[in-house]
Amino acid sequence: MFDPYLAKSLRYILSVILLTGNSLPLLPSDLQEADTVFSRKEFSAEELVRGERLFYGLAYPAEMTVDCEKCHNTKWSDSLNWNPDALEISVKYLNKSGADLQAVLLRPKGKKMAEVHNNFQLTNEDVVLIKAYMDRFVDVGIKKQKPVVTNLLLLIISFVVFSISLTDLIIKRIFRNSRFNLMLLTVSSVVMIWILAAGAIAFGRARDYSPDQPVKFSHYVHAGQNKTDCNYCHYSARSAKSAGIPAGNICLNCHFLVRSGTRSGVTEISKVTGAYDNNEPVKWVRIYRLPDFVFFSHAQHVTAGEIACESCHGDVKTMDRLYQVPDLSMGWCIKCHDTRKVNLTNTYYKTYFSGIYNDFTAGRTDSVMAAVTGGRDCGNCHY
Ligand code: HEC
Ligand code: HEC
Ligand code: HEC
Ligand code: HEC
Ligand code: HEC
Ligand code: HEC
Repeated sequence: MFDPYLAKSLRYILSVILLTGNSLPLLPSDLQEADTVFSRKEFSAEELVRGERLFYGLAYPAEMTVDCEKCHNTKWSDSLNWNPDALEISVKYLNKSGADLQAVLLRPKGKKMAEVHNNFQLTNEDVVLIKAYMDRFVDVGIKKQKPVVTNLLLLIISFVVFSISLTDLIIKRIFRNSRFNLMLLTVSSVVMIWILAAGAIAFGRARDYSPDQPVKFSHYVHAGQNKTDCNYCHYSARSAKSAGIPAGNICLNCHFLVRSGTRSGVTEISKVTGAYDNNEPVKWVRIYRLPDFVFFSHAQHVTAGEIACESCHGDVKTMDRLYQVPDLSMGWCIKCHDTRKVNLTNTYYKTYFSGIYNDFTAGRTDSVMAAVTGGRDCGNCHY
């Protein structure tokens, strides 16, 4: 066998003479060294810190380094990041070897991967330490939600103020001034009632609700850029109560051929094709949902009411990450029914509202609101 140090020096001199940079074939000694490095399992605390610094691109001078976090999130974000997040990667690579990670970093396959993992200068040692640091995410996880502490904190503080001033008023009388006490009581109870009432009204209604989805599906890419009609995927909206979320075979109509996306590479699309191959559904998280005691039909609104999807769901074709636009309250439904004229030439009214239809054709009325055709009857919306 070669002496590893000699081999390395020879390789370096050769690469300078031939101007080939990092792309010389591996020597037997490189492979031997790699074997020992990649089979390591135990790491000291200092090594883990170095792994962390490598991951955040702090171990080398700025121009020689790469910040993995720039693309692979370690924190929850409410904008769509097309790259796999750090947790996703660490789960996938937990039981793989350092050699697998090295391959994807230094010899990336696939158009997107070659574009983003480009010209990384990392030694075998570096790769192993990055992996050791990343394995940690599997236990620690990454923050998935925005913290909502402010209201809770305010509630607790007002409760404490309330209790103190009440006990003081009744037994201790430190403040002596009962007017000051009453003022504290009033302010703290108003704050508490306000927070609880706001919470109760918002409960179950989530405007802007935008959960993480199992696949980063973008309406902007599909309905916007590629101009796919909403009805291609939500094909029951015109004829049935629910619009429906498309099953895997609809995606495969195109993704049988389109295996890589401009922004996410193969990672996201392979989840779709993988689920289809394994006969598993993609577990989409439902966003728009009315309580069970409310009846709502898409066909009624889209076909009879001639209402565009956008009137209720916002400008979906511009959304990378879909979110709930209206609050779905009863007031929202009624407000539209009170102000929206129906199109009486639609055959639906000839069939079901012949009285109004006859008035219309005879010129006795030119328009009616949806409220008149049943949009205000409790029984139409409530079972
Ligand atoms: C290529 C297929 C496809 C097209 C085209 C498409 N969608 Fe979707 N839509 C989906 C998928 C998949 C989901 C579930 C994932 C999500 O919520 O982002 C979804 C979810 C939705 C939801 C939320 C459903 C829920 O969970 O409550 C709405 C609303 C919606 N689409 C409206 C539209 C509108 C409006 C258009 C046309 C501008 C459209 N979609 C075009 C595939 C599609
Ligand atoms: C009508 C054809 C068509 C259908 C149906 C379709 N897609 Fe796509 N999708 C495309 C095209 C084209 C691209 C590539 C866009 C690009 O690279 O800019 C794409 C890209 C993607 C991407 C990657 C986006 C990126 O920029 O990296 C994902 C993820 C995706 N589709 C998921 C889905 C899912 C899930 C479904 C089924 C609900 C679906 N697609 C249905 C045509 C389609
Ligand atoms: C410029 C952005 C960018 C940087 C910087 C970056 N990556 Fe990536 N990485 C990506 C993208 C995009 C993909 C998905 C490509 C695909 O699926 O085609 C990816 C995929 C991966 C994968 C998963 C491959 C698989 O099998 O699914 C690993 C592992 C990975 N990156 C590790 C790293 C590490 C470690 C670093 C830091 C040394 C890093 N990346 C730096 C953009 C980046
Ligand atoms: C009049 C308002 C309104 C219009 C117009 C409308 N939707 Fe909806 N949509 C809703 C409401 C409300 C829900 C929640 C329904 C429920 O929980 O029963 C919903 C739910 C959905 C869902 C979730 C899944 C399901 O099966 O219901 C999808 C997808 C969807 N709409 C797509 C569309 C598309 C595509 C269009 C246009 C063709 C459209 N919607 C037009 C109000 C509307
Ligand atoms: C953007 C306007 C709009 C919104 C928002 C809207 N609707 Fe409607 N709705 C209409 C129109 C227009 C019609 C008339 C179609 C018809 O006559 O059936 C209608 C009709 C109805 C009907 C049928 C009444 C009948 O003729 O028997 C029901 C039930 C209904 N809506 C329920 C709802 C519920 C529940 C919501 C809220 C979750 C809602 N709508 C939100 C516009 C709207
Ligand atoms: C256009 C459809 C529509 C009509 C008409 C309608 N409701 Fe509602 N109602 C709703 C929706 C949607 C909700 C769910 C609101 C929510 O989740 O915040 C609701 C909720 C309620 C609730 C539960 C309290 C709440 O706010 O959550 C009661 C009680 C109720 N409606 C009574 C009535 C009565 C009584 C009538 C007749 C005078 C009526 N509704 C007519 C759509 C309607």
